[in-house]
Amino acid sequence: MAPRKLAAGNWKMNGTLAALAEIDRLLADHPQPGCDVLLCPPATLVHAAAARAGHIAIGGQDCHAQASGAHTGDIAAAQLVDAGASHVIIGHSERRSDHGETDIQVAAKAVAAHQAGLVAVICVGETEAQRDAGQTLDVISAQLAGSVPEGATAGNTVIAYEPVWAIGTGRTPTSDQIAEVHALMRQRLSDRFADGGDVALLYGGSVKPGNAAEIFAIPHVNGALVGGASLKAQDFGPIIAAL
Ligand code: G3P
Repeated sequence: MAPRKLAAGNWKMNGTLAALAEIDRLLADHPQPGCDVLLCPPATLVHAAAARAGHIAIGGQDCHAQASGAHTGDIAAAQLVDAGASHVIIGHSERRSDHGETDIQVAAKAVAAHQAGLVAVICVGETEAQRDAGQTLDVISAQLAGSVPEGATAGNTVIAYEPVWAIGTGRTPTSDQIAEVHALMRQRLSDRFADGGDVALLYGGSVKPGNAAEIFAIPHVNGALVGGASLKAQDFGPIIAAL
């Protein structure tokens, strides 16, 4: 089995019910895409999105590590499943920076996601200071070791490499830089998991219609996790088509 190709969109804290019309447009424009397509809208839209998503999978943007309980404002993995989600983003750099999430917490959330039957899209990525200091490969290795739990398989886990400095900035690493990190991730996952060679590896950070094809041609890049350009079908559609 080869890694599945996945075009994933992360709407972050954007969108109200009116934004679901973008899903209708994607379905109309791409009735039979050549890859899996995933959209992760805000939690308020997961249920309504899943009800009209057709072949597009719907995911959450975070879940709690515990199954239920006194955690005001948090969402359990099983609640995402109940709302129609099949995936959940875990450990996005905005969760790590805004909410101080550690690798240990990220791994615990991924376990909760797996137990609920969700595919965990686990995010890793270096800051600009870490890249400038030549620490990128060490940082990614450590985040993978700490954030990806035992029990991860190609069926229940996707890894997204998102350099923090490339998110929402219009800046992207060079193809060689992306290739270097993705080769490292493939090696680390293969060393640790029986089917680590088949885990889908996404690149994320300023993926646009204009650079998607070049990024998708890089070895061990099996798709993208797209932020801003996933909000509109006219932008996300060409990215889906490029994969
Ligand atoms: O999770 C996707 C994201 O962090 C990338 O955002 O807007 O740079 O595509 P953007």
